[in-house]
Amino acid sequence: MSQINQNLNINQNQNINQNQNQNINQNENQNQNQNLNQNQNQNLNQNQNQNQNQNLNQNINQNENQNQIENQNQIENQNQNQNENENENQNLNQIQNENLNQNQNINQIENQEIYIPQNILITGSAGFIASHVTVYLTEKYPNYKIFAIDKIDYCSNEDYLEEAKKKKNFKFIKGNILSSDLVNFIIESEKIDTIIHIAANSDVDSSFFNSLDFTTNNIIGTHILLEAAKNYKIKRFIHVSTDEVYGDSLSENQKFTENSKLEPTNPYSASKAGAELLVQTYYKCFHVPIIITRGNNTYGPNQYPEKIIPKFICLLDQNKSCPIQGNGSNLRNYIYVDDVVQAFDILLHKGKIGEIYNIGSDFEISNLNLTKILLKKFHLENQEDKYIRFVKDRPYNDIKYTMDTSKLQKLGWKPKIEFEEGIDRTIQWYKNHMQNWKFWENDLPKRYPKKQKEMNFLKI
Ligand SMILES: NC(=O)c1ccc[n+]([C@@H]2O[C@H](COP(=O)([O-])OP(=O)(O)OC[C@H]3O[C@@H](n4cnc5c(N)ncnc54)[C@H](O)[C@@H]3O)[C@@H](O)[C@H]2O)c1
Repeated sequence: MSQINQNLNINQNQNINQNQNQNINQNENQNQNQNLNQNQNQNLNQNQNQNQNQNLNQNINQNENQNQIENQNQIENQNQNQNENENENQNLNQIQNENLNQNQNINQIENQEIYIPQNILITGSAGFIASHVTVYLTEKYPNYKIFAIDKIDYCSNEDYLEEAKKKKNFKFIKGNILSSDLVNFIIESEKIDTIIHIAANSDVDSSFFNSLDFTTNNIIGTHILLEAAKNYKIKRFIHVSTDEVYGDSLSENQKFTENSKLEPTNPYSASKAGAELLVQTYYKCFHVPIIITRGNNTYGPNQYPEKIIPKFICLLDQNKSCPIQGNGSNLRNYIYVDDVVQAFDILLHKGKIGEIYNIGSDFEISNLNLTKILLKKFHLENQEDKYIRFVKDRPYNDIKYTMDTSKLQKLGWKPKIEFEEGIDRTIQWYKNHMQNWKFWENDLPKRYPKKQKEMNFLKI
């Protein structure tokens, strides 16, 4: 009996030892697992700092290995609390891996040499610049589907899209980008992968007495598109901005680069700068793949005669005088619309995500000298007194904005149309379409009947 007791005791002790060993093993396991967790957490933190890290693949592999180790541990591990911790970490890992994959995608896009769009939405397409871009892209790239949206404002004309309308890869949608329902519907139903956002209220003069409209259209309109671009994972968002966001360039030799400060000086340019900042924010926060353009004064067919070149051409053609704001010394750079279209073509395919590009020419001229060239074109150069009239200046009139365009030129672009040629083509087009502009002078007062006093500086 005592032997049996002894044996029992021995067995009991053995059991205790076994239990103790088990506990020790368990503790060891727990320690190991804790260490793993620590390592894992360290790696998670490391991974969190890894945005756009080129060693992304290595870390993804590390994570995969860790996941394997973790799975083994889960089988061995009997401690439920620990399992819960590990599950939590696993979830974190999963989320993180998703983020890493997202970043990998962005890196892949950034490294891509040439982007090929499929379904493009162009906004403001019945306006001046966008109508040229729309017709050009529709004709040149029959494999791209082009969807053009415009609310058809006073300055638009659907006829400008006539050539595009003949093509199978084109669809026009009369609508307002301020409707997010409409924008979302188009993007979803037409599987839009690319947005070229050109629509805006674009007339500086009107912005002085109608600035809220500019803020609504230009800033909120852009915001609505950005939100849709984010939600539908748009692959390219080209945002069209202006040189005016830089404000005055005051010194003789100062040229604005894409890194220059934004210092807008009128409600139009302020609304464009505001829109741009939103675009940049959506790139930084949500990785919306944006490209921003800042263009010089553009001229050519289809431009509404509120801007100086078409306005003075129409006036001279109707034998009326040209009203020059202030003393006419303000300088502007002009670029022909076909050159701008070429720039968009290059930026669509080769532009780098997240970058800003100036689009401009070296042709700089004062408002007064520009008017004198136009007088000459109409053989009125000897009658300056009759055809040039000085009127009250704008509330603020930028002296000049000269830009450095070397960044865009490095992608293979440069302006080709000399001013002499561009202005001849433009004058010819307006002469051929003068019937469009018979009543344009009464347009502005009709649109803003209560703002007559504020518009004094615009009197023709
Ligand atoms: N014209 C220039 O000299 C110049 C220079 C640099 C940059 N830009 C920029 O280029 C773009 C186009 O300029 P533009 O001179 O061709 O303008 P535009 O005024 O001729 O055309 C703008 C078009 O956008 C449309 N539009 C405006 N708001 C809309 C909305 N909420 N929904 C749908 N359509 C809307 C209008 O109906 C119009 O057809 C603008 O963003 C402008 O800031 C113009």
